Parts: sequence; C-alpha cells; structure tokens
Amino acid sequence: MKKIAIFASGNGSNAQNISDYFAGNENIKIALILSNYKDAYVLKRAKKLKIPAVYFDRKDFYLSENVLNKLQSFQIDFIVLAGFLWFIPQILIQHFPNRIINIHPALLPKHGGKGMYGMKVHESVKESGDTESGITIHYVNDKYDEGEIIFQAKVKVDPNDSPEDIANKIHKLEYEYFPKVIEGLL
Ligand code: GAR
Repeated sequence: MKKIAIFASGNGSNAQNISDYFAGNENIKIALILSNYKDAYVLKRAKKLKIPAVYFDRKDFYLSENVLNKLQSFQIDFIVLAGFLWFIPQILIQHFPNRIINIHPALLPKHGGKGMYGMKVHESVKESGDTESGITIHYVNDKYDEGEIIFQAKVKVDPNDSPEDIANKIHKLEYEYFPKVIEGLL
C-alpha cells in the first residue's frame, strides 16, 4: 500500500478529485491532507472524506521538523501538491527525493515562477494572447516550477475566453489527468 499526502492551500477541488479517484483502491491511499491555511476549504473537504487533516504554520514548515515528523508518523511515501502555494523546504525534498510532484495550471516554462498561481496564471495567459494553455505536472526541486516535467496536456484558448473560462478549461484537464499520472508514477 502506497500512502499519499496531499498539500493544498485553498479550495482543494483537486485534492477532492484525487481522493475520490483512489477511494477503495487497495494499493494507493490518500492518508493525509495538509494545509497552511486554517480556514482553507480543503480541510473541510478532508473532514467529509474522513481523511486525517493537518494545519501547519510557517514555523512548523520552515523552522522545525513538525511537518516532516507528521509525514513520517503517517508513513507517507509520496507527496502531491495540489494548489499549494508555499515553497517546499529542503528538508522535505531531501527526505522525499523524486517523490514530490506539483501541478501547475499552465504550460511551463511559460506563466510560472514565484507568485504565479491560480487566477494570476490564467490572467497572464489571457494577457499574453496565447492560443493555447494547459497543465504541467512536474517534480518539485528547490526552484519554483523548475523541476523535471512529467506530463503536459493542452487546451485551446479562444480570443474571447475570459480568465475564468480558461480556469474552467484547465480544471477539467486537471481532474481528468492528475489522478492518472499519480497512479502511473506509483
Ligand atoms: C489548481 O488549478 C492548481 O493547478 C493551481 O491552483 C489551483 C488549485 O485549485 N496551482 C497553482 O497555481 C500552483 N502554482 P483547487 O484548490 O481547487 O485544487
């Protein structure tokens, strides 16, 4: 049995989708959901899903081993960042080499880097006039959005798409592919 921890900062619709996908799976289990925001909706989702959930603050994450200890106490094998907005500390990268992945809601290396998350990414795509966008699933290293790319999928962007329209198209791709890519990697 492989145990996954999902980190999410906000709504957590990807966390929900991944958890639904693996519910009842005998080989892969979402064992823990973690958030850096106390009021993040993803923590409510975790409760409904009956998946253990943990809130942590900056001190826990960057100045202590609290988060690492929590992951180890749940015997986590693999970490999925699904809408998680903080930089991952070196200690986690060391303990989970090539076992932390992130999803970015655009075709990296475009529209990535620090501060590029959620709607900001889709607004950037809109402003650039790009005729396509997509999703990028990549390994996490010590630079924002620069780890090795594992998977990309594309979707057409129409000139009259709003950033919200682009976000909807991207979410559909995320829901379709993210769980399958995780399954493939494990
Ligand atoms: C997702 O679209 C994800 O790709 C993006 O945040 C959204 C979270 O939605 N991640 C980033 O922008 C990371 N740079 P969700 O909370 O509903 O899953």
